[in-house]
Amino acid sequence: MKFFLDTANLADIEEAASWGVLAGVTTNPTLYAREGGKLADFHSHLKRICDIVPGPVSGETVSLDRDGIVREGEELAAIAPNIIVKVPVMPEGLAATKCLSDRGIKVNMTLCFTVPQALLSARAGASYISPFVGRFDDISEDGIERLADTVQSISNYDFGHEVEVIAASVRSANHVVKAALIGADIATVPFAVLKNLVKHPLTDRGLESFLADWEKVKNS
Ligand code: E4P
Repeated sequence: MKFFLDTANLADIEEAASWGVLAGVTTNPTLYAREGGKLADFHSHLKRICDIVPGPVSGETVSLDRDGIVREGEELAAIAPNIIVKVPVMPEGLAATKCLSDRGIKVNMTLCFTVPQALLSARAGASYISPFVGRFDDISEDGIERLADTVQSISNYDFGHEVEVIAASVRSANHVVKAALIGADIATVPFAVLKNLVKHPLTDRGLESFLADWEKVKNS
């Protein structure tokens, strides 16, 4: 499983990249606004992210019609070679995905909640599909079970191009564990979740006792 960060925070992206584990980033204008950013600067911010991240960086479109999404997608794709255009699953989004993928621009189809949405996204040419996990849990449904159905259904077919499933709307380390057991290709996680993935109380205790032993050995 590869790890993407779901953020617009440059410091967090730089830190995760410095650990050598960051394969990509997913972001959108809302996440950028949370960092105090203005919509007018979103593209230059994406460029800064692309300069840090050695992999795919998904930037979301905000248009609702095919031509608008395609126009935005082309503008986004011109920012950097590692940009992936994030498009919501809907009829106009599928039509735009077909146009963009025919032009060699990679699409991450987002807001995906069902197996048919995932299959249609792949058929329209999406290279990445983002089933949302946490938002099912928010309405007391099992997001992990839905993710498993999506991963299985995508792996059942050859779409003539590579399709990677991104476990999105990930809220906890447990979501990541379950997504890995299911075989999701990627998990896109907030930085707080990524930091939790590194930690375990027994690791902390092991380090403490190692350091205590080392002090004794050093001074003997
Ligand atoms: C990623 O592409 C999604 O936008 C993100 O994971 C959604 O997460 P949320 O449900 O916590 O907003």
